Order: sequence, then C-alpha cells, then structure tokens
Amino acid sequence: MIQRREFRYPGTAEDVSRLGGLLSDAWKVAGFFPTGRLAVMNLACGRADETGALAAALAPAKIGFYLGIDLRPETIAEAQARWALPDGEIEFRCGDAAATHRMRQLPLFDLILIRHQNYWHEPVVWDRLLENALNGLKPGGLLVSTSYFDREHELLVAALKTRGAELLANLRHASSRALPDAPGKSVDRWLAVFRNIEHRTLNIER
Ligand SMILES: C[S@@+](CC[C@H](N)C(=O)[O-])C[C@H]1O[C@@H](n2cnc3c(N)ncnc32)[C@H](O)[C@@H]1O
Repeated sequence: MIQRREFRYPGTAEDVSRLGGLLSDAWKVAGFFPTGRLAVMNLACGRADETGALAAALAPAKIGFYLGIDLRPETIAEAQARWALPDGEIEFRCGDAAATHRMRQLPLFDLILIRHQNYWHEPVVWDRLLENALNGLKPGGLLVSTSYFDREHELLVAALKTRGAELLANLRHASSRALPDAPGKSVDRWLAVFRNIEHRTLNIER
C-alpha cells in the first residue's frame, strides 16, 4: 500500500501507528495469522487514514482487493488521492455502507474493518450495516471494529453476538489518545475481532 499524500491533520500518523500495534496484538489474541492475498473492505471509512497501518499489520499477507465505502464524497475523494495499491485493486466508493447487499459486484471478503463505528447514533442503520457486513464475509472471515467510547462498544459487541458472530478478541487500547473535547472518548479506545463462524444463510438479496 502506497501513501501518496501526507495526512491532513497532525497527530494522525501517530494515531494510526498505534492502531497498527493494536491490530497486531489483536491478531495474536484472535489466533489470526494473515497469509496470501486478501480481499479487505473498510466500511464507513471516512478519509481511510488507517489504510496503510492496516495493510502493514496484515503482513506477510498482501491486500489483493481493497474497497472503502463512506457516505461523504469529500472524504472519499481524499482517500482516493492518498492511497494506491500498485499490485492490487483499490477502490473508494461513495455510498451507504448499510446497503452492501445491494452492491451486486462485491466479492466476499476475508476481512472487514469498521474503524470508529457509529452504532450509538443510528442503531437501526447500524444493525443493518452489521448484518450485511457479516453476510459479506467469507467463511471464517473476520470483522474488526474500533470504538471511541465504552457504551457504544458494548452495544456493537452485543449486536454482533446477537447475530451469531464469535468474539475472538476484545482489547482496551492501553495508549489510546484521549479526545480533549469529548470526555470518555479516545482514539481506537476499543478494538474487537469477530469471526463469521459459518457461511451464513443469506436472508437478503445479493
Ligand atoms: C467516526 S467517522 C470514522 C471515519 C474513519 N473510519 C476513521 O476512523 O477515521 C464515521 C464515518 O462513518 C460514516 N458513515 C456513517 N454512516 C454511514 C453509512 N450508512 N454509510 C457509509 N458511511 C457512513 C461517516 O460519513 C463518517 O465518515
């Protein structure tokens, strides 16, 4: 993964570097040893600042296909300008990450990342988004998510367990950077790894 532009904000490089360490720790706890060429999707990706850190944490596996989806066109444009994948396919798409079941050309994914999920704000939308994400994984594929605050993380974990996902790792980030204007919130405060236990019966049109 090639980063073609500097990050927009100071401190982002340090944040994503810490996230990379947290992902590596989580792989160990989860018993995940990345190999081969992976199809990876980043839902509600925003600027997708975490793209390089994720790719590095997946080594020695390579990303063969990477898709980022977000509602906001300006963040998608910025992600497109920043990231390149010379030996694979990369796409940033403006769209509803809760509607992946209607995106007919999508493959199944080895790993889906949701960094700084938003379950608290729109639980109905995020229930659908999580259901579709689980249905979008290959058998044994992983859903990885981080949260800014404790309660939102608990809600996400409960929502995924309810849908039959297996919680493989649930880490409180020891060096998470506190957000000065949001007490109780910090960057990648929690990270959870779920496995799609079996290939789920699709109850939706793909
Ligand atoms: C807290 S930001 C996280 C962005 C990025 N993952 C990060 O950690 O920097 C939440 C993002 O979710 C996006 N979002 C919220 N609901 C969405 C939906 N239904 N489909 C796509 N993107 C969505 C927002 O546009 C926003 O960029």
